[in-house]
Amino acid sequence: MTGLVTLKHTPLTSKKILIFGDKGQLGTALKKALTTFNVISADRETLDVSDSDKVNTYLNKVAPNIIFNAAAFTNVDLAETETLTNKKINAEFPQLLSEYVEKNKDCYLIHYSTDYVYSGESSNVLSEDDSVGPINSYGIEKYNGECAIKKNTSRYLIFRTSWVFDHFHKNFLTTIIKFIENKDFVSIVDDQLGAPTYATDLAKYSIVALEKALLNHDFLGQTYNLCNSGFCSWYEYANFIAKQAVHTNISSKILQITPVSSSEYPTKAKRPKNSRMSTNKFKQTFQVSLPEWKDAINRCLIELKKNTPPHQSL
Ligand SMILES: NC(=O)c1ccc[n+]([C@@H]2O[C@H](COP(=O)([O-])OP(=O)(O)OC[C@H]3O[C@@H](n4cnc5c(N)ncnc54)[C@H](OP(=O)(O)O)[C@@H]3O)[C@@H](O)[C@H]2O)c1
Repeated sequence: MTGLVTLKHTPLTSKKILIFGDKGQLGTALKKALTTFNVISADRETLDVSDSDKVNTYLNKVAPNIIFNAAAFTNVDLAETETLTNKKINAEFPQLLSEYVEKNKDCYLIHYSTDYVYSGESSNVLSEDDSVGPINSYGIEKYNGECAIKKNTSRYLIFRTSWVFDHFHKNFLTTIIKFIENKDFVSIVDDQLGAPTYATDLAKYSIVALEKALLNHDFLGQTYNLCNSGFCSWYEYANFIAKQAVHTNISSKILQITPVSSSEYPTKAKRPKNSRMSTNKFKQTFQVSLPEWKDAINRCLIELKKNTPPHQSL
């Protein structure tokens, strides 16, 4: 037989899936990963998620079974001064979503949080049971968002992730690629540790987890750390990107990178020194292994190269 596409039946097949923040890094990856399903997605033009009345009206109109919340106020420095917007988007919006989910019995919420809920003061690899203690406004409101969800419903999955990148939004990876083009030397912080996480992997593994959780509800009502495997400093991360950009012929130029301490690179919002999160709970619950961050960067650079017109190569 030719011309017939057989779609795999999964626990998501019969669901109406709503994605908030569909133009962001994760939202874009989720939309791509869910193309064969019944997906509705909302960007800022469709709905300002800081407007609670409009959010409630929109949810009642769409009546989703699955809500992926990839919308967030992610400018960590701006969140120090834009405190009301930070609160509305990172704490109050998840609260509204969880209230809706609780009222609608065939509805589930997949929400994303951050390594910045931890203080980063301990040198341990951080598990979900370790105490939190956010040290900036973004981390505080993301944690308040988590708490609101946990208080209102049990039909949720919360994924704490870190250092998200893809091949075309503004992020650390694309910034280093631009630096290669525009600069000869840069200084990068070497005393903050974490795991770079590819938006494509974050989307893929959160969907895998959701499908399993819909079959086994014991997995719901939980917070899971979810990031690529392995850890590095921002300095090591930058060096690897610069080296692989040469290796993959994205660039012929070697960027000289100097390690500096956080105290030499002050930012408006304080950053945790230790963002190394254990993903054991996620891997054991959902019986998966998570790709290494270096492997994820290599795959992302291949996408970046495919999508860069030849005349723009570095
Ligand atoms: N980025 C990271 O390094 C990182 C690290 C740890 C955790 N996380 C978490 O991971 C999740 C995904 O992050 P991401 O990197 O994909 O974020 P992102 O690229 O910044 O995307 C966030 C999306 O939210 C949308 N949004 C913001 N305010 C809105 C509003 N008032 N109304 C409607 N939409 C609004 C943005 O719309 P516009 O495109 O119009 O601005 C954007 O599309 C978030 O929960 C974030 O907190 C991210």
